Amino acid sequence: MRKNIVAGNWKMNTTLEEGVELASSINDALKGKKHNCDVVICVPATHLVSVNAVIEPETVGLGAENCSEHEKGAYTGEISASMVASTGATYCILGHSERRQYFGENNEQLLKKTKLALANGLTPIFCVGEMLEQRENGTFNDVVRSQIEALFSLPIEDFSKIIVAYEPVWAIGTGKTATADQAQDMHANIRMAIREKYGDVADDTSILYGGSCKPTNARELFAKPDVDGGLIGGAALNADSFMGIIEAFD
Ligand code: 13P
Repeated sequence: MRKNIVAGNWKMNTTLEEGVELASSINDALKGKKHNCDVVICVPATHLVSVNAVIEPETVGLGAENCSEHEKGAYTGEISASMVASTGATYCILGHSERRQYFGENNEQLLKKTKLALANGLTPIFCVGEMLEQRENGTFNDVVRSQIEALFSLPIEDFSKIIVAYEPVWAIGTGKTATADQAQDMHANIRMAIREKYGDVADDTSILYGGSCKPTNARELFAKPDVDGGLIGGAALNADSFMGIIEAFD
């Protein structure tokens, strides 16, 4: 069966020192306690090695926020999937709306990134989500479906390793959360699209919600049958609020 997961996306926040301290506090807060979800932190690439040294893999999983669509070579400033894996990280966020919006990432590139992440043993956290205009003009289901369909050339054994994150762009960092019903409807649509292509794999695919998720709304969101956890931005930058979201599964 699919897993419940709470994953943090630190984005471009924290110095190395602050990041190590935050990771260490999260690890300490979780250590030895039973919680009903897997916990992952996705941190800036500069922090991966140091953060890996202060967390225990059985307590907190570690991920990057992006990787290159190229295997290696003359791509100044890029970080490959094998480099990410060599730090000890085992997850990688791909296709975050900020990457799509500000760095022009498209479906073709994202498929390449996903293949390289998988080939290097990383679990992709693949993000999809519509813009405000698409929510308002009613095309949101089609938009998100086409984003997830971008991965449908993957063989079933590869697709079954993917975690999906639904993050409506209008809810990210705006304080405006999708209602639990809006999240449930979209998650059910995503799962239906996966079922049409990959059959029962749909039941085992974790689909996380992201966008202004906080301790105060996490419980209601996570109570929905197709919401298997969250991908958390702002509230993941503070150990107490991140723990508050994790505890929503208790
Ligand atoms: P916020 O939780 O800050 O809205 O960000 C969500 C997000 O983009 C996580 O990837």
